[in-house]
Amino acid sequence: MTQRNITVPAGQLPPLGGCRLITEQCKNVALFNVDGQFYAINDCCPHQGASLSNGRIEGHVIRCRAHGLRFDLANGQSPNPSRLEVTRYPTEHLDDQTLIIVHQEIAT
Ligand code: FES
Repeated sequence: MTQRNITVPAGQLPPLGGCRLITEQCKNVALFNVDGQFYAINDCCPHQGASLSNGRIEGHVIRCRAHGLRFDLANGQSPNPSRLEVTRYPTEHLDDQTLIIVHQEIAT
């Protein structure tokens, strides 16, 4: 299966402290803006699949609204005893757009 990266124009980036759900190529990516730093993760919670883009942002941590597990956007890991981890994707900024590199998952 061939996948391309996702291009997000500047006008479609989430606002500070916000999130935007991007659906492309059958992949749901949650793009967060934390203090001007963008983090892209798989929107599907690794616990039971709830949407993380609907979660509550607490600093660099997203709290899933379904059962309350938390995931650090910087490393994808959960500080909870579950040891679950969400898939992260690198982002790059090119001129007036942001590129989400979906074919390359960040290893921790
Ligand atoms: S589905 Fe996210 S914590 Fe259960």
